[in-house]
Parts: sequence; C-alpha cells; structure tokens
Amino acid sequence: MEKKTARSVGYMHGFSSKEQDRLYSQATFLEPFVYEHIDLRRATNLLEVGCGVGAQTSVLLRRFPHLRITGVDASKPQMDQARRFLSHEIRQKRVALHHADASKTKFADGTFDGAFICWLLEHVPDPVAILRETLRTLKSGSIIYATEVHNASLFMEPYSPATVKYWMEFNDHQWTMRGDPFVGAKLGNLLLKAGFQNIETRLIQFHFDSRTPKQRAEFIRYWTDLLLSGAPTLLRSKRVTKDLVTQMTNELALVAKSPESVFFYTAVQARAQAL
Ligand SMILES: C[S@@+](CC[C@H](N)C(=O)[O-])C[C@H]1O[C@@H](n2cnc3c(N)ncnc32)[C@H](O)[C@@H]1O
Repeated sequence: MEKKTARSVGYMHGFSSKEQDRLYSQATFLEPFVYEHIDLRRATNLLEVGCGVGAQTSVLLRRFPHLRITGVDASKPQMDQARRFLSHEIRQKRVALHHADASKTKFADGTFDGAFICWLLEHVPDPVAILRETLRTLKSGSIIYATEVHNASLFMEPYSPATVKYWMEFNDHQWTMRGDPFVGAKLGNLLLKAGFQNIETRLIQFHFDSRTPKQRAEFIRYWTDLLLSGAPTLLRSKRVTKDLVTQMTNELALVAKSPESVFFYTAVQARAQAL
C-alpha cells in the first residue's frame, strides 16, 4: 500500500506570477463571505497554516490589527512572494514566515492561541496529519477556523456540458494527485479525528441569479478565471483537449450573457476548539 505523507500534492494552479496575483484578488474578492463569521478578537498569536503568498495574512492583519501571525507554507516560490509582499509587516514583527510542511513543524507545544486555514486541505493527501500538528501547537482553549472547497456543489444555468466535463476532469485530476476537492463536506469528521472539540460547520453559499445581477456577473467572471487557471495542467496531462477548453470558454461567455443565468456554489467553514 502506498505510504501517505502530508507533504504537498502537485498544485493544480501552478506557481506562476499570474496565479500568485489570482490568489491576492481571490482573497479580497471572497473576503466578505469567508470572514463574515470569523472572530479572532481573542487571539493574539495566530498560526496561519498554508499561508501561500500572504493574501489572507494581509486580510487578517487588516481585520484584526492586534494579531501577530506566523505563516507556514510548503512552497518556496509562494513563501518568497509572501516575504516580498509582507516585508513591511515582517520588519514590524507582526508577521513571521516559515517554509515548512505544516504536518511537521518545529513549533513547541502550545505556542499559538489561534489558527487559520483557508483553501489548503484540498491540496494535501493527509489533512488529519496537518490538523493534528496544528492542534499540538495550540494552547488549550484556542479556536481554529478552516474554510474549504466543496467542488461537487458547482452549478451554472444555462446547462453547460463542456464545463461540467472539464470540471469533472479538474476535480478527478486533483483527486488522482491525492488532493481532495470535496474536503469541505468532510471538515467535521477530519477535525474530530484530529482531536478538536466543539466543532461547528456552516455553509458559505454563493447563489446568484437575476435578483443580484452584479454579483452574478462578478462570480461568473471569477469562476471563468479559476477554471482556466487549471487549463495548462489539464492540457499537459491530456485530461482535456484544446477543443474542450474552447467549448467551455464559449459556454461561460453564454452564461455571462444570459438574462436567466444562475451561479451556485457552496464552500464549508468550520470553527473548532483545542481543549
Ligand atoms: C490555494 S493555496 C491557498 C493559500 C492561502 N491560504 C490563500 O487562501 O491565499 C494553498 C497553499 O497550501 C500550500 N500547501 C500545500 N500543502 C502544504 C503542506 N503540507 N504544508 C504547508 N503548506 C502546504 C501550498 O503551497 C499553497 O501555497
């Protein structure tokens, strides 16, 4: 049987500067939805697991200016970019960054009094190992927030069969690389298995139709970029053809134009306690 490690799986979107820019716009674009119920007023020393280019770090610092944040990420290019982006905050000692696998950190037990995870666990083969390691580094009473995708929930009207096929390949590719595009629905179980307590989960709903045309248009644009960001990887691995990418692009343009269009997606956010 293949040995499971918690190191990073191949990253679907790559580490290009275009992708790094996408992470910054994504963090601010989704901020009202991701942060609506996040309350870190009681934390002072926060561990951000899988901080990437520092996009959420900067949102966290803006919303909770008293925080000191330690970010950990397994990717050197992301860490290098995060160091450039957060150089001012690093000099001010509001942020410290560590290039490490989040399942094997060197922090002492009970170092932190809060933890934050966003769009990370879909990319790892053993999310429980990361959550257990996070728990080890938390003081008793600390709160962890984890926000993750649940990709089975995507729906767009008008029906777009090429997009459905492409999305299936996108998710199946991530699954074969030992990631988990459906990790959102499993957050409760994963946190429980890792040893967290008082676990609550809530759905973050992105449901836009003719009642909210501006948000609907923004989300269709954002998702078109997100879907296309996986195209180089999917084309290289021969999961999709150029034709399918063109058909999907045309379908998405139609969804964007259609007066009756619907965008629907659900992510999952968990809040739990280290006791
Ligand atoms: C989609 S990015 C999200 C980054 C950030 N949380 C955000 O929302 O912008 C996922 C990040 O997880 C990191 N990652 C994947 N596996 C990891 C691991 N085992 N330990 C630490 N970081 C990991 C990747 O390098 C990548 O930067």
